[in-house]
Amino acid sequence: MSARPLVIAVDGPAAAGKGTLARRLAAELGLPYLDTGLLYRATGRRVLDRGLDPRDAIAAEAEARAMTAADLARTDLRGPAADMAASAVAAIPAVRAALLDWQREFGRRHGAVMDGRDIGTVVFPEAPIKLFVTAATGERARRRWAELHARGVAADLDQVEAELRARDAQDAGRSTAPMKPAEDAVLLDTTDLDAEAAYAAALLLVRTRMAAA
Ligand code: DC
Repeated sequence: MSARPLVIAVDGPAAAGKGTLARRLAAELGLPYLDTGLLYRATGRRVLDRGLDPRDAIAAEAEARAMTAADLARTDLRGPAADMAASAVAAIPAVRAALLDWQREFGRRHGAVMDGRDIGTVVFPEAPIKLFVTAATGERARRRWAELHARGVAADLDQVEAELRARDAQDAGRSTAPMKPAEDAVLLDTTDLDAEAAYAAALLLVRTRMAAA
């Protein structure tokens, strides 16, 4: 019997720091990294490109199935319109179904650190290590605002916070694969942690779980 490749699930809401953390964990552990949000972002973008509504289930499923690797490398997958389009297509069960096998294949091939909303609950419920990374909404908004500011994008903090709240509500409130911690996930609240401290805490949790596995 061969050992199953290690999958580490890193879920949580937007701007909690899970992407940075997951990417560093993957590099440290020598595992591939997958930002699963990109799949939903690329799908949403393709629907917007066609001038259609990201809530249109038929169009969104077709675009999820037609997506290519080149779509994932596009530079216009971030920003308020792309954020909300991603969240809208992600609420459509047929879109999630279309993207599920691809994500499972990715993780099964060589193991992976995968970040998203439903990795620990739906994509890899059997993952031996699951983190759910959160932070207070105000702090997440401040971080997202600072990120935009650093890129030279003018943004209003209240507006950024309102958009985060709307997206969280949509991601946590959908009926298929809603964002929520798996029962066996370890919660990591990064509100009072900088990126370095959050990473150190995550690595410690992962190492402790690996030792216990
Ligand atoms: O992680 P992100 O902000 O790039 O994700 C964009 C959207 O995609 C998010 O609002 C919800 C959706 N998403 C999802 O439903 N499931 C995932 N595993 C990853 C992202």
